[in-house]
Amino acid sequence: MQTISIDTKNKHYNVYVGSGIYETALPIFEKQLQRADHVVIFVDEVVAKLHLEKLLMPLQAIINKSVHVFELPAGETSKSIETFMACHSFLLEVGCTRKSIAFALGGGACGDVVGFVASTFMRGIPFFQCPTTILAHDSAVGGKTAINHPQGKNMIGSFYQPEAVIYDILTLSTLPKQEILSGMAEVIKHALISDEHWVEELVSFQSFDEISAAQYLSYLVKGIEVKAAIVEADEFELSVRKYLNLGHTYGHAIEASTGYGRITHGESVAIGLVIALLLSEKVQSLEKGNARKLFDGLCSLGYSFAPVLKHEVDTLISYMKRDKKASFGDLHFVLLEQIGQPCVQIVTVDDVKLAHKQLNIWIREVYK
Ligand SMILES: NC(=O)c1ccc[n+]([C@@H]2O[C@H](COP(=O)([O-])OP(=O)(O)OC[C@H]3O[C@@H](n4cnc5c(N)ncnc54)[C@H](O)[C@@H]3O)[C@@H](O)[C@H]2O)c1
Ligand SMILES: [Zn+2]
Repeated sequence: MQTISIDTKNKHYNVYVGSGIYETALPIFEKQLQRADHVVIFVDEVVAKLHLEKLLMPLQAIINKSVHVFELPAGETSKSIETFMACHSFLLEVGCTRKSIAFALGGGACGDVVGFVASTFMRGIPFFQCPTTILAHDSAVGGKTAINHPQGKNMIGSFYQPEAVIYDILTLSTLPKQEILSGMAEVIKHALISDEHWVEELVSFQSFDEISAAQYLSYLVKGIEVKAAIVEADEFELSVRKYLNLGHTYGHAIEASTGYGRITHGESVAIGLVIALLLSEKVQSLEKGNARKLFDGLCSLGYSFAPVLKHEVDTLISYMKRDKKASFGDLHFVLLEQIGQPCVQIVTVDDVKLAHKQLNIWIREVYK
């Protein structure tokens, strides 16, 4: 089991990563868990069938009384006000108080809604993140919690750090291919903002099936370390935390206009990464050729760029202007001065249009 510490101004906590680690990591919190009047696991309904027992059994053994379990709708649909209320109702029904502890067992969606429930139930109760997707190596660390509003994703939320993140990568073995692609896009993002050699390594795979369990572990640990360093430097996204949004300005626009659930978050980000690199070559000092190399690598790994062809650039730009990270309608992009060196820059609509056009040309070449 590997341990990565996260030191924010408000909280110090650890991320434990490894295979089959619930039985090793939970006893670290034995006293805290035994003092709790109730322990509740909120679990994604798909994950419940596959992995709940792995967490439930050792947890039950530690607290020596029954753990309450509440299943959430699978994936993104759980990030709703209805699920948020249902979680609160469940906590009240079983008699939870400020001395209760919550666990989130599932992907990023489950972690986001349960984190928000934990941050608001009786003004805040401790919670543990137990991520079960590759993407959640990113979302479970850093304390951003949220649910969606019909007018926008993640519009209601808080910053609230967990007690610990217990990341048992044995759970990743049941992930569908689409979710592997989605999660690995955020790993590639972490590589792009930190380490050129790591990018080369990741995009040189022909398929993520070639990656061994040991390599997955090392990439996830590396990704968490990149995120940890940034979160420690800027917990509330006033400066460098924005770098984590590389690929997300255009990516979010693709995700929103395609329709949430029709394309995964990470697959949209992968597309956004290529646009970010094209813009970096145009308006920053990134050496020409990097965007094309990334595009080719992502195509051979199985990422689909077809969604780009379905949208008018003006529609995408209107989504970008509505993004909560845009201020006064300006298009703020995270770009790269070079691989591993991110920066934030205002980009003109015309430059975004040019990058979109270039990407369209490449896509048509590949899909002809
Ligand atoms: N808080 C943050 O800092 C942050 C950062 C990035 C993303 N996010 C959020 O994370 C969410 C996306 O997270 P995600 O990609 O993990 O998706 P997800 O939680 O929606 O899970 C994706 C799908 O995989 C299934 N699943 C989960 N674990 C599984 C497993 N081990 N085996 C089989 N199926 C499994 C789920 O049921 C779901 O259908 C988005 O809502 C996004 O906004 C948050
Ligand atoms: Zn993301």
